Amino acid sequence: MLKVPKIFIRPSNELDRKSDSDLTHFQIPIIDLQGIKDDKGMQQVIVKEILSASEKWGFFLVVNHGVPSSVMEGMIKGVAKFHDLNNEVKKEWYSRDTKVRVRFYSNFDLYTSKAASWRDTLTFLMSTPEPINPEEMPTICRDTTIEYTKHVTDLGDVLLDLLSEGLGLKANFLKQMEGAEACSLICNYYPACPEPELTIGAARHTDPIVLSILLQDNIGGLQVLHQGQWVDIHPIPGALVVNIGDLLQIVSNDKLKSVEHRALSNHIGPRVSVACFLSLRFDVATRPCGPIKDLISDENPPVYRDILMKEYMDHFAHQGLDGKPGLDFFKLL
Ligand code: OGA
Ligand code: NI
Repeated sequence: MLKVPKIFIRPSNELDRKSDSDLTHFQIPIIDLQGIKDDKGMQQVIVKEILSASEKWGFFLVVNHGVPSSVMEGMIKGVAKFHDLNNEVKKEWYSRDTKVRVRFYSNFDLYTSKAASWRDTLTFLMSTPEPINPEEMPTICRDTTIEYTKHVTDLGDVLLDLLSEGLGLKANFLKQMEGAEACSLICNYYPACPEPELTIGAARHTDPIVLSILLQDNIGGLQVLHQGQWVDIHPIPGALVVNIGDLLQIVSNDKLKSVEHRALSNHIGPRVSVACFLSLRFDVATRPCGPIKDLISDENPPVYRDILMKEYMDHFAHQGLDGKPGLDFFKLL
């Protein structure tokens, strides 16, 4: 029987695969965006639903979100095709330098984590906000990735507007604070694993960005921590998973929650997922980021100090995916 190499064997406290499904039947909120553009009343309802999901779960699913299913399927297929290339070809794209706009790598936290994770990743810095030159992208998934990015960033704009409104800010507030200006695609590939109970696809972590929109194929394995229980986020055809990132938790002064999640490894595979990370511009690393002034008051004092983006990125890179909530480091109290 095939065995998992020792470097992948995770500490035993990470290997409890139980989810709550048999216990409490938590169900991640599903939000239907149908009618968002032309029905004001509907929009108000959706704003409330999104705010509540972002406060209580930090995660929700969206359906009727406007990204065509053919584009989603094309993206998944393109990513699978890239990862299925032989290693000699993929080697050309290998880099551990986070400034490289297209790179293939495994275990970005190899030198800080306790063990390796069972996944490979292809990352595109699609806009920083300068758009990527398509010629820098592998031809095998170039067109599908460009097409998907167009649609998913439009959805990102819609979601940031709804969240701004939910927070009581002007509709385009989060976008204007350069929310959606940097966009990366994290294209994950989790190979079938002979001993999935010994390793993990992605160890528990929060996302170090503003907002994440995740596309996953139909295999499953993603779990979110909710009220101390791991809850499965089962794939629903056509749905996308949205979650609040650390930066949105900081600027919303802890109102919206960046919640831990993980991806289990599986006998079945490969599993493909694509996280679209919307973030603040990388090129203004010296710009401070902290709770939005309009959201703080005497009754609601700032929970975080102002943080330089560079300081934040360095902290995250150093920390790795070891499951420690990283935001406490920036708290004032
Ligand atoms: C991520 C992530 C989950 C998944 O890339 O940050 O959480 O299901 N991925 O691949
Ligand atoms: Ni994540």
